[in-house]
Amino acid sequence: MDFSIKTFDAKNTISSSKSGCIVVGVYENKKLSTAAKALDVSGAISAALKSGDITGKAGTTLLLRDIAGIGSERVVLVGLGSDAKLSEKTYLSATQAVAKVLANIGAADAIIALPADEVKDRDINWAIQSAVLALRETGYRADTLKSKKDSSSRGVKKIAFAIPAVLAASVKTTLVQSQAIANGMELTKDLGNLPANICTPSYLATTAKKLAKDYKMAVEVLDRKQLEALKMGSFLSVTNGSVQAPKFIVLKHMGGKAKDAPTVLVGKGITFDSGGISIKAGAGMDEMKFDMCGAASVLGTLRAIGELKLKLNVIGVIAACENMPSGSATKPGDIVTSMSGLTIEVLNTDAEGRLVLCDALTYTERFNPAAVIDIATLTGACVVALGHHNSGLFTRDDSAHDQLATQLLAAGKASGDTAWRMPVEEAYQEQLKSNFADLANIGTPGAGSVTAACFLENFTKKYTWAHLDIAGTAWKSGGAKGATGRPVPLLTTYLINKAQ
Ligand code: BES
Ligand code: MN
Ligand code: ZN
Repeated sequence: MDFSIKTFDAKNTISSSKSGCIVVGVYENKKLSTAAKALDVSGAISAALKSGDITGKAGTTLLLRDIAGIGSERVVLVGLGSDAKLSEKTYLSATQAVAKVLANIGAADAIIALPADEVKDRDINWAIQSAVLALRETGYRADTLKSKKDSSSRGVKKIAFAIPAVLAASVKTTLVQSQAIANGMELTKDLGNLPANICTPSYLATTAKKLAKDYKMAVEVLDRKQLEALKMGSFLSVTNGSVQAPKFIVLKHMGGKAKDAPTVLVGKGITFDSGGISIKAGAGMDEMKFDMCGAASVLGTLRAIGELKLKLNVIGVIAACENMPSGSATKPGDIVTSMSGLTIEVLNTDAEGRLVLCDALTYTERFNPAAVIDIATLTGACVVALGHHNSGLFTRDDSAHDQLATQLLAAGKASGDTAWRMPVEEAYQEQLKSNFADLANIGTPGAGSVTAACFLENFTKKYTWAHLDIAGTAWKSGGAKGATGRPVPLLTTYLINKAQ
């Protein structure tokens, strides 16, 4: 998909402009938006409204063809609700409806002339980015492994946003950023959607190497021997039952000054989580191929900032392996020694994410990071707590961490990829006590997503750290099953803000 900006003036009018399709808004009380008025030279649009063919309700659409007196072949009317105020929600449902229409018509190009600068409490940059992400989401197909491809050749490929001339400069930057975010999300979705027999730890490593080549990043992939030398006993304990080789991936985008402390993104990369000896129930177990979505979001975010040539030092760290049962698998009750030296009693082999992350978090100390954010499909309990709207954001609550939390929450709000803050508190450590080791890998019942975060906290004492539990937001189940690309928008927006 190709996006651009179009500005209109007295000479170069919206009605004379030639395109395969032009999209304008109409309101519930039969009022026309400014752009719709400009196209209503023959009265065809007001007639359509009057006839009741379109109500103007948010998200309704009507396609008209060959209207006399205008240059575009088609006009798509889209409902914007009440004309009193254009809310964020109404605008989003309108853009989603437009994306669906544009995906299914014969036009090669389209102009979207919605009142993007009139959304309440939001600016035009937000509106344009939301539209780009909605259009790219609708155009996304997970059909690389189908012998008959979904009808992706159809649909509009070239889209211009009609905007006021004074806003063109800032929207131009937004378009570049939005497309980078969409490209990053696409990589994250592709990796998430691939099955575990293809998207192995080695496949993730190959993808990281390809990114390094494409965007001039440094990459390092550590194998089992090197992980043993680093004494990553916790990470390695998860891979014991698998025939797939574990990979520890370090991908560096050093766009800032050499001396600047990097921001480190640490991703959980369990390419399949069977639960191990504490094996999961059969129903829906296929979805545990998505247990590497944290890792995929790290790669997607690095892709986005690589494309943007972001002036910031960002390091991606990924602990990738499978969690499988076998005669050599870790058993409940086994005690392992983490890279930090802390011993861990593995009471449940299905709580493996924290076991791979703790060693990755200890490894990360060597970068003297400005901030560390880990991203993980860590707990089913987080889905119980927050559902599928918000990722869980966990940080300590001193002022440095409050500041990091505020920045991450704001980045989520701005990009429509929201998170909700949850506690990290000393009191919960009580639940992680073991009779035989320094820590147990599961907590006593209650606050499962919090005790998981508090487990990780033990390994993050040396830097400012946040944990994003994306168990409820990284993929969708049911008929819409598939990776979402979250939290690439949140992370990329946070990093863009930080680079400014
Ligand atoms: N990958 C899962 C978390 C998960 C489960 C994400 C379902 C999304 C949907 C994780 O490794 C896991 O199995 N966690 C256990 C922890 C428990 C054993 C303390 C869980 O959530 O049940
Ligand atoms: Mn698990
Ligand atoms: Zn898992």
